[in-house]
Amino acid sequence: MAFPQTRPRRLRRTPALRALVAETTLRPQQLVLPVFVREGISAPAPISSMPGVVQHTRDSLRQAAVEAAQAGLGGLMLFGIPERKDAVGSGAIDPEGILNLAIADVVAEVGDALPVMADLCLDEFTDHGHCGVLDSLGRIDNDATLVIYAEMALAQAVAGVDLVGPSGMMDGQVAAIREALDGGGQQDVAILAYSAKYASAFYGPFREAVDSTLEGDRRTYQQAPGNAREGVLEAKLDVDEGADIVMVKPALAYLDVISAVRAAVDVPVAAYNISGEYSMVEAAAAKGWIDRESAIIETLTSIRRAGADVTLTYWAQEAAELLA
Ligand code: PBG
Repeated sequence: MAFPQTRPRRLRRTPALRALVAETTLRPQQLVLPVFVREGISAPAPISSMPGVVQHTRDSLRQAAVEAAQAGLGGLMLFGIPERKDAVGSGAIDPEGILNLAIADVVAEVGDALPVMADLCLDEFTDHGHCGVLDSLGRIDNDATLVIYAEMALAQAVAGVDLVGPSGMMDGQVAAIREALDGGGQQDVAILAYSAKYASAFYGPFREAVDSTLEGDRRTYQQAPGNAREGVLEAKLDVDEGADIVMVKPALAYLDVISAVRAAVDVPVAAYNISGEYSMVEAAAAKGWIDRESAIIETLTSIRRAGADVTLTYWAQEAAELLA
């Protein structure tokens, strides 16, 4: 009988040997926690489609920011839910709008200890729920939207944001935002671009999280799930336009895109472990079908392994505690 020549199992014998040859690291500072803050509520409101996630009040958000800083997270990504929405998303550029107030609150609380990021998109602020404004025929008006994104970026910068996160998939959005920030003396505000963002069914639970009013879909601006090369094109365009970090979203159904983008650019690559990816694990764990904590760590490890330097995940706080 021939003995095996190569025995990979030798290096799997003990936990210490396995740690020695671990190819992928997972650390709290690589994880960013997305958080929702809602105008006009007096207590945090649970989101039924995302068990364990809430819409924060301004006060409870400040508390969450302190905890995130203490856990050594890589940052917070803020989403605002205004009381009133309109056709052009006025609440997004209003200095007293909920998102801009929340940015200032969090920055006052944590200063430079925790990077503060904000979603830069109109969908939470428009009554039609689209990421851009509409023309007279009801189509997305790309270039009119850029003008508003530029103002929104400046409003977030004045509020103290460290990174803006344009997520609307308008062509030229990164260049428009970079130009506005630089022109407004905000050269130090960085751009985390949602570069390759796919029109995904897995955003479902998020729609409840932000009280979305969207009817129809986002397929004229978000990408088709089958297009990987186009994801790389989008990421390269964003780097050329001045993106400091490029992101692929969702993460799990697009690990190949994360990997291809990582190989194609020299800036850090982020991935967004989105609401549906979170809720599927939570739902299966609640039924006792999978081991929740192992599934969380395995999920986040797989996104790192694919090539993400930074991962946005609703499990960031808990994962940091599990890793400690
Ligand atoms: C758009 C935006 C969305 C998400 C983040 N930013 C929704 C969408 O594009 O439909 C989804 C995040 C998630 O599902 O966790 N501003």
